[in-house]
Amino acid sequence: MKNLLVTGGCGFIGTCFIQYLLEESDFTGRIVNVDKLTYAGNPENLIDIEKDFPQQYVFVKGDICDAGKMAWIFDEYGIDSVCHFAAESHVDRSIVSPDAFIQTNIMGTFNLLECSRSRLKDLIRFHHISTDEVYGSLGREGYFTEETPYKPNSPYSASKASSDHLVRAYHKTYGLPMTISNCSNNYGPYQFPEKLIPLIILNALEGKNLPVYGDGLHVRDWLFVRDHCTAIWTIMKKGKMGETYNIGGSNEMENLKLVEMICDILDETNRLDDHRSRRELIRFVKDRPGHDRRYAIDFTKLNQELNWRPEASLETGIRETIRWYLDNRRWVERVRSGEYQTWIKTHYT
Ligand code: NAD
Ligand code: DAU
Repeated sequence: MKNLLVTGGCGFIGTCFIQYLLEESDFTGRIVNVDKLTYAGNPENLIDIEKDFPQQYVFVKGDICDAGKMAWIFDEYGIDSVCHFAAESHVDRSIVSPDAFIQTNIMGTFNLLECSRSRLKDLIRFHHISTDEVYGSLGREGYFTEETPYKPNSPYSASKASSDHLVRAYHKTYGLPMTISNCSNNYGPYQFPEKLIPLIILNALEGKNLPVYGDGLHVRDWLFVRDHCTAIWTIMKKGKMGETYNIGGSNEMENLKLVEMICDILDETNRLDDHRSRRELIRFVKDRPGHDRRYAIDFTKLNQELNWRPEASLETGIRETIRWYLDNRRWVERVRSGEYQTWIKTHYT
């Protein structure tokens, strides 16, 4: 892989992936990061990468739905492999306004597939990043495997399911060399503070209410973002073409327990001025429509065939994440105030 196209590299997981690839992995080629810079994309995350790896890193502001621009990027940079992260990723937003999800997640993926189809002889691998939400919801027992039928319940997960089907169909029909990974909930540095874990950390730090949807007994299988990135790179190097791999953290927890855990860690390290326990800030709020009850991943295939396993435990990962948000207050302020968007406008228009 000499010229790897990473889409959505200025988002939460894309940022970690680019940092991991250039700073820690055995990757020696060039990354071309294409990102539309929606509210979720922040190129400031990669300023050090831009400085430290001028030969190996290029950023291009672009929309994956723009067929002409994407074709130009493939040719201009001699793209020979793709790692496709770019998406609208927040379930709550997909419930309020699904349009952008259909456009980016389905049409954008289709567009990348068409670019790849017309350059098949140059393409080593198209790796598509997807989610465990395509499988729907579990009861108390059982796990999602790669054989679990798709049953998405939100506009977000339906759009991701649709893009997965397109990627698989391009393999069967046109011989596209592709792999797909379906991953559970990620957490860690640079996550946009609308998602549960950063939202709770920041509200709890400031003594604000902590919203828990419904009864708080919904279960997610949490994975530290760096572990997701090592899994993706493992699949990109060794994954069998045409295959899907599930990625999970073996870290199932009910939302309420997770929120309590964050409260307790913060009470231990940064007490509130009035010495209240942060658990008192928890508020049960109206449930998310169509809220999936439980996700849990069986990643035996990835473990047995490609020898991958996650490293972080939920407690060490959460402690590291809390530390990151405490140490990066400026990032938080710029993201929350929208200052990063002003910076983007002056640098990239
Ligand atoms: P994110 O919302 O933090 O980042 C998405 C990035 O894509 C942003 O930089 C945004 O600017 C960019 N983008 C959006 N629309 C674009 C377009 N039309 N053209 C180009 N760029 C565009 O998302 P994330 O949490 O980093 O998720 C990345 C991928 O991983 C997504 O495909 C998501 O479905 C998948 N995923 C996420 C999780 C999770 O827990 N966050 C778990 C499993 C899978
Ligand atoms: O499972 C993988 C998916 O995980 C990814 O595909 C998505 O891109 C990612 O956003 C994430 O989806 P969730 O909907 O599970 O993540 P979120 O952080 O929004 O919510 C996690 C759980 O916490 C979920 O059960 C809803 C609940 N929640 C969320 C928020 C924002 C609350 O109880 N309160 C909140 O304020």
